[in-house]
Amino acid sequence: MPDYVVIATWPFGQTAVKAAAPLLADGKPALDAALAGAQAVEDDPTVFFVGYGGLGNAVGTVQLDACVMDGKTLACGGVAALENVRHAAAVARRVMEKTPHVLLVGQGAQQFAIQEGFPLETLLTPESVAEWEKRRPKPKTPDKPPEGHDTVTVLALDRRGRLGGVCSTSGLPHKLPGRVGDSPLIGAGLYVDDEAGAAGGTGVGEEIIRVGGSHLIVEAMRAGKGPQEACELAIRKVNQVAVRRGVHPAQVSFLALDVKGRVGAACTAMTNFQYAVGRPDGVQLLKAKELEPEQ
Ligand code: GLY
Repeated sequence: MPDYVVIATWPFGQTAVKAAAPLLADGKPALDAALAGAQAVEDDPTVFFVGYGGLGNAVGTVQLDACVMDGKTLACGGVAALENVRHAAAVARRVMEKTPHVLLVGQGAQQFAIQEGFPLETLLTPESVAEWEKRRPKPKTPDKPPEGHDTVTVLALDRRGRLGGVCSTSGLPHKLPGRVGDSPLIGAGLYVDDEAGAAGGTGVGEEIIRVGGSHLIVEAMRAGKGPQEACELAIRKVNQVAVRRGVHPAQVSFLALDVKGRVGAACTAMTNFQYAVGRPDGVQLLKAKELEPEQ
C-alpha cells in the first residue's frame, strides 16, 4: 500500500497540499483532505481565480464553479454560477451528501447554500477589482493561445488507498454571466474512481469539456496507461481538436494520480503549467510536460 499523496494545480497548489497533507498523515479520508486543500485556496484573496478575491464575469460579478468526487462510491456533487458564497467546493460536497442531485446552478445553488448555513458575503476585494480592470478583453492575437486561467484542482490518495478530488474556480475572467466551465462538471474538470485513478483539469474550460478531459484520462488509466501517459493522451486530443477546428490550442493542463501513488501532468504549448505534489517526505513544485500540436 503506498503512503498518502496529494497533488494540486499551480504554485498556489502548494497552499492546498500543505493544508491537505496533515489530514492525510492523520489517516483522514482523501476527499476531506482534498476539500481542506481547495478551501485554503478559496480563502486566499491573493489567488484571483478561486473563491474569495476571484475575478468577476463580464459585468463584474463573481460566479463560482466547483465539484467534488469520491473515488470509492463515485458519489459526486457540483455547483455552478454560485454567487456570494466563498466555499463553493464545500457547497458542492453538501450537494453530493444531502441531495439526490449532482449539480445545482445559480440562484438554486445559492438558496441551497443558505439553507445549509453558508454565509453570504461579497467576494470582491479592492485588489481583485483592480485586476479585473487590467484584464479587460483585448483583441485576439492569432499566434497566441487563448489564455486559460488557474483553477485549483486537488487530487488525494489516503492511507487506506482511497482517492478523492475537488475542483474550485471563479472561471474565466470577463466570462458571459451564466457561463459554466469545466470545473463543476464531473468528467470534464474532475473524475475520480478508485478502480482506475483520479484526474483533473485547469485552463480554458470549453476545450476541457469538448474532449471530456478528466474522464478520458481516468478511462485511459483503467485501460492500463500510467497517469503521465494518460495526461499526455488527453492533451494530444485537445491539440488534435484544435487542429481540426483550425484554431490555436488553448491553454489547457491536466494532472492525474493513481491508486499506486503515481502522478502525471501535461499541458498544451505556452501554458507553463506547474503543480504541487505532497508526500510524507515533503512538498515539491513540478513543471508539467508541454505538448505542441502535431500537424
Ligand atoms: N477551467 C476553468 C474554467 O474554464 O472556468
